[in-house]
Amino acid sequence: MTDFQKKYGGYLDFFEAALKKYCAEMNDLPSMLAESMRYSLLSGGKRVRPVLFFAALELFGRDFRGEAPLAVALECIHTYSLIHDDLPAMDDDDYRRGNPSNHKVFGEANAILAGDGLLSEACSMLLHEGMRSEAHLMAAACLMDAAGARGMVAGQSADLLYSGKAGSEEELRYIYEHKTGRLLTAPPVMAAILAGGDEASMRRFGRELGMLFQLTDDLLDVKGNGALMGKTAGKDEREGKLTCVKVFGIEKSERLADAAAADCMAILRAYGGRAAFLEDLVRFVRSRDN
Ligand code: IPE
Ligand code: IPE
Ligand code: MG
Ligand code: MG
Ligand code: MG
Repeated sequence: MTDFQKKYGGYLDFFEAALKKYCAEMNDLPSMLAESMRYSLLSGGKRVRPVLFFAALELFGRDFRGEAPLAVALECIHTYSLIHDDLPAMDDDDYRRGNPSNHKVFGEANAILAGDGLLSEACSMLLHEGMRSEAHLMAAACLMDAAGARGMVAGQSADLLYSGKAGSEEELRYIYEHKTGRLLTAPPVMAAILAGGDEASMRRFGRELGMLFQLTDDLLDVKGNGALMGKTAGKDEREGKLTCVKVFGIEKSERLADAAAADCMAILRAYGGRAAFLEDLVRFVRSRDN
């Protein structure tokens, strides 16, 4: 096992324990709602956003173990975005994280409510965390801005708008920066806010990582293995999505992913050896197969 895998595993163990604890406290919810929310939260996922948050906290010398609720809120928002993204009215995808999508198991109406439940639970957790300190309140606001109608939701809206249409490089960039980039920029920026680190450099880093993440997501949709990815391959072309492959072709998209990874590395260089894990995380995102 590499140092990167060991460290990732450590963050993951801590996060999964916090998430399980949160799920175990859902007994006062209607059972269908609790079951459908738990189903998607606990059905795997790489947990890249919480891991990124924890690693950025450590980069700025702060112990990540005190910030589990913010990480759980982050993953709740991401998971809600996936449940809604898979709905027949959106990407109409039957598989997610290696399992049938939420709506395939619980039906569309319950899947919509599971997403609503996860989003509003996240807001509630963030408000409670915001009472701890002004920095927590600012970190919470940063996450809600990233999730909302000027953030991830704006990107999903543009993604729908350009489905079935020819779009430009500029429009593709808007979609990437919002639907994927915002929820990947929030974790390192939240960490910088909490730890008094350089927010601007973390914002630049998150934006480049978001570009890299969606470039590789679009590439995997074309060349990836559905069984490994845990979601259906080849669906972007079927749905007429505006992807990097559609705009640039596979070869140029691969080069753009290399360039985005190099840009991430250049930003991290200012942090020296302390950024070794984040550098490996960038390499992981570039070469991932799921
Ligand atoms: C998938 O995100 C949605 C995108 C933004 C491309 P992830 O690839 O992080 O999905 P999980 O959480 O590991 O399932
Ligand atoms: C989704 O992008 C981004 C979200 C905000 C969920 P995709 O639609 O490409 O994500 P996948 O491929 O279904 O995971
Ligand atoms: Mg989508
Ligand atoms: Mg999708
Ligand atoms: Mg995709």
